[in-house]
Amino acid sequence: MSDLIRRLAAGVRLGYSLPQPFYCDDGVFEADMARVIGRKWLVAGHVDRVRNKGDYFLYPIGSESIIIVRSDASTINAFYNVCRHRGSLVCTKPEGQAARLTCAYHAWSYGLDGALLAARLMPGDFVREEHGLHRCHVRVFHGFIFINLAADEPEDFDAAFADLAPHLDFHGFADAKIAHRESYPTEANWKLIVENFVECYHCVPSHPEFCSMHPPDALVAFGAGPSSGPDDAVERYRPTLEAWERRAASLGRPLGSIDDGPGSSHLRLLLQRTIRAGYESETPDGRPASRLMGKRRDFDQGRMYLSFSPFTQVVATNDFAVLFLFTPLGPTRTGVDLYWLVDGRAAEVDVERMIWGWDRTTRQDKEITENNQRGILSTRYAPGRYSDQERRVVTFQQWYLAQYGCAPA
Ligand code: FES
Ligand SMILES: [Fe+2]
Repeated sequence: MSDLIRRLAAGVRLGYSLPQPFYCDDGVFEADMARVIGRKWLVAGHVDRVRNKGDYFLYPIGSESIIIVRSDASTINAFYNVCRHRGSLVCTKPEGQAARLTCAYHAWSYGLDGALLAARLMPGDFVREEHGLHRCHVRVFHGFIFINLAADEPEDFDAAFADLAPHLDFHGFADAKIAHRESYPTEANWKLIVENFVECYHCVPSHPEFCSMHPPDALVAFGAGPSSGPDDAVERYRPTLEAWERRAASLGRPLGSIDDGPGSSHLRLLLQRTIRAGYESETPDGRPASRLMGKRRDFDQGRMYLSFSPFTQVVATNDFAVLFLFTPLGPTRTGVDLYWLVDGRAAEVDVERMIWGWDRTTRQDKEITENNQRGILSTRYAPGRYSDQERRVVTFQQWYLAQYGCAPA
């Protein structure tokens, strides 16, 4: 499968969009599942979805379905949703509460720890203990439930993410609660969704609400993270950024940025900057929609953009955060799921004002990305040249090809 990618990679030009098969070919998708998606730590959801024993939800990815289930106060398990009898899905509802996980086909029944508890009329030499549900690697980190589909030992989690702890702690993600969830399934290859998310060249033409909440010069310089815009724009914005950093630091915010390069395991990003002057939150009028999150002492007019990987993004303003899950489902189909997180102690949340920006922006992104996919399927599609505001797309493509040991020309 990697031979296919290596052959196609020979046609990749740095600074241009990818050749057509990368965005629609079945073989490329199969290779991506095996070599890229299946080897990374991906966020499947937040612990607030499984607060109580027996709470579960399904996380579909590629042709897999993963059951995320809480078995006791301190344990969240992840299992492949495949019955050990004849392979049926065990859980069929997207979420629920169960004392046992029982397959509807012939009623084999599993404990919340995955052990097979009951299987009727099996031969005497059948060993129940050998027929528990297959486990998927899982790790809960500051409230985020990460899974890894690796068949063998996955990459060391702490080596990849431990340095993010001070930031996640400050924002209070471990104790956050989900104020709203929305799905925007998108008929496009996962790379188009990532490429769209890591550039802000499209922000002005496509996202009026998003642009209304941000200083225009910040969008050019850092619209989609560090090193997403031209150097001279970054220089022009620097005095504003430094003034904000001083104020944010005085209010206890841990500063710093992360800009992982193409050779990194998860291509993480961390950017912190100010929002529009006079605004305290990313809402239509700039007023907060909920109480301050985490350890904040006061509003600092800042936002954090954190990318755990190209598949998982977090945008945090002072009073709420949006978790974006981009989950590859097929060559031209990707799950786009947004979670709006608020402080665990929040009593009143103005959901409508809170979701205003990112709900509209994500609907717009779905439309432009699906249009992009449809155009790419044309016989006349050819890789196109990127602007200076799409530099991070190039970095993403370099990282993607590096997963196969390929470097673009
Ligand atoms: S396939 Fe699940 S009990 Fe038969
Ligand atoms: Fe967008």
